[in-house]
Amino acid sequence: FDFMISKELDFAIRDIADFPKPGIIFKDITPILKDAKLCTAVIDEFVKQLEGIEIDVVAGIESRGFLFGLMLANRLQIPFVPIRKKGKLPFTTVEEPCELEYGSAILELHEDAIIPGQRVLIHDDLLATGGTVSAATRLVQKLDGVVAGYAFVISLDFLNANDKLKQVSQNIISLVSYK
Ligand code: PRP
Ligand code: MG
Repeated sequence: FDFMISKELDFAIRDIADFPKPGIIFKDITPILKDAKLCTAVIDEFVKQLEGIEIDVVAGIESRGFLFGLMLANRLQIPFVPIRKKGKLPFTTVEEPCELEYGSAILELHEDAIIPGQRVLIHDDLLATGGTVSAATRLVQKLDGVVAGYAFVISLDFLNANDKLKQVSQNIISLVSYK
């Protein structure tokens, strides 16, 4: 594991106090996006850590999961499929409710996004309570996809979402974690 990328990411990520609600410290990844070399380093590191794991599709979660999710899928030259909040995807969908850090939502995935048996990497920018990726997991499973692993830029380890995800896949990658 490359500690340099962790350090660089930690340095780039901007903490915003009390956003979007009082008491929440928001991890702002937009400074990473402004740094093309750092974006490349993020994708390089994901690719390195995913070596040996068979993946057919990357599923990225709206909206911040689209950013690196698409970059990663394109680098791997495999399909990217968007998981979106209800009412945004135009074609026939499957849906799952999801509990969020602040509020709740319904997530959707196009019914033809995954071919039964395909191995899907679920990606989001940040793992907090795990409510979002749990709903994404159920969407993939509804379409008879196999969750091959999870990849996050950031994980908030003090919320202990990892334990829940490990029951689905042992392959959990996060590039910078906060204890
Ligand atoms: C944030 C973050 C993850 C999710 C993590 O998304 O980007 O998707 O929360 O929280 P959880 O692990 O507790 O479910 P947000 O709902 O703020 O939406 P956005 O990505 O569209 O900004
Ligand atoms: Mg999000």
